[in-house]
Amino acid sequence: MGNIKLNNGILMPGIGFGTWKIKDYNQVIDVVKNAIEVGYRHIDTASVYGNEEAIGIALKESCIPREDIFVTTKLWNSVRGYNETICAFNESLRKLQLEYIDLYLIHWPSPLEFRDCYQEKNVETYKALEKLYSQGKIKAIGVSNFLKHHIEELKNFVSIPIAVNQIEFHPYYYDQETIEYCKQNDIIIEAYSPLGRGEILKDNTITDIAKKYNKSPAQICIRYAIDNQIVPLPKTISKQRMIENLNVFDFNLMKEDIDKIRNLSNDDKKIGSNPDTADF
Ligand SMILES: NC(=O)c1ccc[n+]([C@@H]2O[C@H](COP(=O)([O-])OP(=O)(O)OC[C@H]3O[C@@H](n4cnc5c(N)ncnc54)[C@H](OP(=O)(O)O)[C@@H]3O)[C@@H](O)[C@H]2O)c1
Repeated sequence: MGNIKLNNGILMPGIGFGTWKIKDYNQVIDVVKNAIEVGYRHIDTASVYGNEEAIGIALKESCIPREDIFVTTKLWNSVRGYNETICAFNESLRKLQLEYIDLYLIHWPSPLEFRDCYQEKNVETYKALEKLYSQGKIKAIGVSNFLKHHIEELKNFVSIPIAVNQIEFHPYYYDQETIEYCKQNDIIIEAYSPLGRGEILKDNTITDIAKKYNKSPAQICIRYAIDNQIVPLPKTISKQRMIENLNVFDFNLMKEDIDKIRNLSNDDKKIGSNPDTADF
């Protein structure tokens, strides 16, 4: 599993383990311990997932050296502003029982509650992230669901460049404008819902390509992200699927197959909310 170098020199494992919708306390502990056991070294969570505390226990019980695991969490939409962000961050740190977070992301650019002033609020919020970064409490700062215009609105007020943007990415959805913009600006893209939440796995194009490489449809979707220089964050509760989803580093997709998959994408097939109009 290769590491990706972020724009501040920090190394991030090139595949992460998604934990959204894994909520039951004991299940979270079991699943995350299994993920670490089979080789994941990058865990993606968020305060809104309600599982930070159990993930903290799983990390402890796994006895994994802190420097060997990369942990991401995110600031939820109910919180914006300098002091509020510092408080929310400290709460995540407490729940995760960690001394620092590897990557801290602003989860959405324009929360409904702050929609009329989201640009100023993002600047204040980002300043808090920069403060935490300078104190060593965050190793890298990023955003999630930010479109090109959200980043441009923030960019001039930022002294520590955005390292990561976590966005929806899978064979049915390719946000060309955001992807190109992030690549041009040295912002690493992470793919959320890289398996399209499971829907894509029955698509004939994907299953045909899977047969050609003697891989599973999920492995093709995950490799498709990697071959687009995007870091996938697949989620599963099954230990067998965890292993399957990690077993993607012994092949590359040929350009013709990347193009075929790319042709499946269509703006109408976006699964997640539109960052400008989300009703939360
Ligand atoms: N920043 C954001 O706004 C945002 C939004 C969405 C997600 N995320 C992050 O991205 C992660 C992944 O996205 P996601 O959870 O939406 O969806 P996903 O990873 O695309 O898909 C997960 C679904 O695929 C199934 N699955 C996993 N591996 C499989 C395999 N090998 N074969 C067949 N089915 C398989 C899982 O079922 P089982 O669990 O039953 O195996 C689950 O139903 C999240 O967990 C979260 O960390 C972030």
